[in-house]
Amino acid sequence: MRTKIVAGNWKMNNTIEETTTLIKELQIALKDVSLENTRVLVAPTFVNLSRGVENAKDSNIEVVAQNMHQAKNGAFTGEISADMLKSVGVVSVILGHSERRTYFGETDALLAEKVSATLDNTMEAIFCFGELLEDRKSGNHFSVVESQLKNALFHLEAAAWKNIVLAYEPVWAIGTGETASPEQAQEMHAFIRNIIKEQYNGEVADAVSILYGGSVKPANAVEIFSKPDVDGGLIGGAALNAADFTAIIKAI
Ligand code: PGA
Repeated sequence: MRTKIVAGNWKMNNTIEETTTLIKELQIALKDVSLENTRVLVAPTFVNLSRGVENAKDSNIEVVAQNMHQAKNGAFTGEISADMLKSVGVVSVILGHSERRTYFGETDALLAEKVSATLDNTMEAIFCFGELLEDRKSGNHFSVVESQLKNALFHLEAAAWKNIVLAYEPVWAIGTGETASPEQAQEMHAFIRNIIKEQYNGEVADAVSILYGGSVKPANAVEIFSKPDVDGGLIGGAALNAADFTAIIKAI
């Protein structure tokens, strides 16, 4: 059975006190929630990771990073390496978020390097991708998604996929309040699983968790998560509120 995952991407929000409070609130809210076969992840900003890991210790919440540099170390001012993340207890990282692609110029080629660096360091990559509104309007959404996957992930060996989580996030749905319909999400997720099957095999395709991201809220989570190829969500805005995020987790 595929693992279900609900991940909160907190982006550039929350001071250390606010991060601590939010993790505490989530711990309390999730104490009696049955999370069988389900992982709950939160991604605070870099400076709050260390404390976040401490706060989340002995709970069912995992703390992950929002980004990582591909080099081992060196003269890369402002960047964070795999060793640094691991040294504070973080072993999973979001890569390729559309905001990284749009505002920080991250390309498929760079992301291929970041994915490899993540796996070489025995970490997990939560790889984000998705089409722009203009791609969907022009009917190119499938080919855009296919090339994003191909360029950044298809250099990997089949065995490496056990440490890959996919997050399909149509850019037009991120932070806009406009969600892909459950049918649109299912259609794309099934397409993604199929191209992975063609490139690798059915076993790899069946095992990989594919999350949907883009304006998931308590009001639409149940319907989106009910689709057979949607294995969870990557949640932005709604993950900043403990009650909303908990309601989304309960919807899985
Ligand atoms: P959103 O963000 O839930 O606020 O649309 C999703 C994301 O950026 O991962």
